[in-house]
Amino acid sequence: MILAIDTSCDDTSAAVVTTSSQVLSNIISSQIDLHKPFGGVVPELACRFHVEYIDNVVQKALDTANVSLDEITSIAPTVGPGLSPALLIGISFSKGLAESRDIFLLPQNHIESHLLSPFIGLELEPKNCIGLIISGGHTELYHIKSIHDYTLLGSTKDDAVGEAFDKVAKMLELGYPGGPKIEELSIKGDEEAIQFPRPMIQEKSCDFSFSGLKTAVMVYLRKNNSFNLNNVCASFQKAVLDTLISKTERAIHKTGANQLAIGGGVSCNNYLRRYMTEFFQKKGIDIFFSRPEHCTDNAAMIGFTASKYIQKGLKVLDREIDANPNLSLKGFHSQFFNL
Ligand code: KG4
Ligand code: ZN
Repeated sequence: MILAIDTSCDDTSAAVVTTSSQVLSNIISSQIDLHKPFGGVVPELACRFHVEYIDNVVQKALDTANVSLDEITSIAPTVGPGLSPALLIGISFSKGLAESRDIFLLPQNHIESHLLSPFIGLELEPKNCIGLIISGGHTELYHIKSIHDYTLLGSTKDDAVGEAFDKVAKMLELGYPGGPKIEELSIKGDEEAIQFPRPMIQEKSCDFSFSGLKTAVMVYLRKNNSFNLNNVCASFQKAVLDTLISKTERAIHKTGANQLAIGGGVSCNNYLRRYMTEFFQKKGIDIFFSRPEHCTDNAAMIGFTASKYIQKGLKVLDREIDANPNLSLKGFHSQFFNL
């Protein structure tokens, strides 16, 4: 049994996952209401919340799974990327438990977990797959040749896609987080009403840029005293979709991949799920989305990834485990495991 912990940003989450990758519980204590008045995550507040709630969240994860602490053989905390002081709370908690109970410590990379999250609950594993992570902090395209074999193909040069949703929502005074509200208003809007730019779409790289799109929305709002809110939301959302489709298609061409796996908070968006599915299925690509509860930050995906290390017989190297806010996927496996 693996106890997984994620405190990388503003959610305190714990999960119990079996070594055969079955998720028995996934408890997420959300801080959205705490950060709402500030229009984004306040790191100091996030930390205070993690400290206050981590014991309860872990206990609830054990209770829901009907598993006692004595049955836990590995503890898997996220070590990065994320907010350093927030990460440290989950890491210190895990280290304490590992030392006092002789439990294995399995450090986990948050990005790898987002990448693998669409495969939770499936028999099949990613193979020659494009992984697209679209979240509040990340917009990245990877080639997943197989589990533990990843190549970064492209990433955002400025804002992450979720960040763009949140910033546009802030301009429109829609509150935080912006994504769900923009999606809701878009339903009644005309997505062709305003031609916002599709940034970097002509470039051959798989990199993204969303700050220009955000600025284009700002300029439009300044120029137009009265505007149709639904049309602004729908046109912005369409520009994001077109950009994501174009870059993902490029990644598929470059690698010859035949699978596509999409995770991260923005992949909760049903409009995006529908159109991306339609577009890529027509091209013969098998497309996998994370389940909604595994899209935003959660410990189930951390435990699921940890179970893959155990199944592959990877041993943790005897190394000091610390928070790394900028942890990359490149080199992660050889840094912590005998890969
Ligand atoms: O994965 P996540 O918790 O963030 C990071 O780990 O960085 O995702 C949060 C992000 C926020 O920016 C939020 O606005 C966005 O996901 N989001 C959405 C939707 N639901 C959440 N964006 C677009 N449409 C949605 N329905
Ligand atoms: Zn995340």
